[in-house]
Amino acid sequence: MKTEVLPIHSSVLFEAATEKAATLLDCGEIVALPSETVYGLAADALNTSAVRCIYEVKQRPANNPLIVHIASRKMLQTCVREWSDVAEKFANAFWPGPLTLVLPKAKCITHAITAGLDSVAIRWPAHPLMQAVIRRLGRPLAAPSANLANQLSPTSAEHVLNQLDKRIPLIVDGGLSNVGIESTVLSLCGAAPTVLRPGVIHLEALQAIDPSTRNLDALSKRKNSKQPQLSPGLHKKHYAPRARLKIHHWDSTSNLLKAVEAFGATQSRTCIICHEQIPSAETFSRVSVIPHDPEAYARALYAELFVADQEKPDLILIESVPDTSAWQGIRDRITRASSN
Ligand code: TXA
Ligand code: MG
Repeated sequence: MKTEVLPIHSSVLFEAATEKAATLLDCGEIVALPSETVYGLAADALNTSAVRCIYEVKQRPANNPLIVHIASRKMLQTCVREWSDVAEKFANAFWPGPLTLVLPKAKCITHAITAGLDSVAIRWPAHPLMQAVIRRLGRPLAAPSANLANQLSPTSAEHVLNQLDKRIPLIVDGGLSNVGIESTVLSLCGAAPTVLRPGVIHLEALQAIDPSTRNLDALSKRKNSKQPQLSPGLHKKHYAPRARLKIHHWDSTSNLLKAVEAFGATQSRTCIICHEQIPSAETFSRVSVIPHDPEAYARALYAELFVADQEKPDLILIESVPDTSAWQGIRDRITRASSN
């Protein structure tokens, strides 16, 4: 299959890409679309075989449910069974935007999307292209991040092409994603609003809307993330060699050099990603400096990891980040990446 990449930097191109994407989706195809968080791999949410196709292409375990993307109140009503005052408050505060709400699902949302759960994750994305495609199709879009399972989420069309070339018919190129990490996932199905996945809309911002909002405690999080093993055929691919990633704090270049040695790597085969302590040694394979600001950091993180990984280094060493609410989404992503 040839993968077409369509830009959207003029109104004529935007219109053509919207039309092409909506037409393919209407025929049950899956396409990669830009969103403000990361690129999504989209299918018509009401077409079960198209939804199944997402799992196949991504090699995603069948028990990991998908987010349903909407672009109107009317669409929202068709997807959820209950809509509380609390849900209304969160939606008013953060939609369209990088917040996903988990709510009791309506009948039209199949188990293929929810992985058998009675709840559905809903997001109203802020990206104009994604909104335009949803409106043109007239139906919600099921869309996980447009990467192969367990690999880096894409924040550019190039990242998507790198993983999904020849596997999907279309990638719409909307440039770099503005938020840069995946949405905050907030469950409204329990006694209190619970953050299942932290993101740039952080705990304190959510507590300003509802003070009872809490983080999922570490223990239940661990239980939740225990996915059954993939089928043996896919297993190898998921664990194909990729750069080892470590998080570390250093307060001088000499400290950093000692750490690289302790991790068993050589300087020339190590990529550094830092935000405060910029090393003076020029012998590293690559040094990426990301601004010390959580929003700017989130925007740049995956792109920097992508280029670092392209160098095929022995080690990617990331400078540790602050332990505050605003950095929680970033801490979560780099910690996951380091446990691979
Ligand atoms: O920013 C984003 O959220 C991007 C863009 C494309 O919207 N999408 C994304 O999708 O990151 P994905 O599939 O990579 O992550 C979806 C997350 C997973 O952690 C999944 O377990 C959770 O949402 N999720 C989906 N449905 C759920 C449900 N019913 N209950 C609990 N968690 C759910
Ligand atoms: Mg993902």
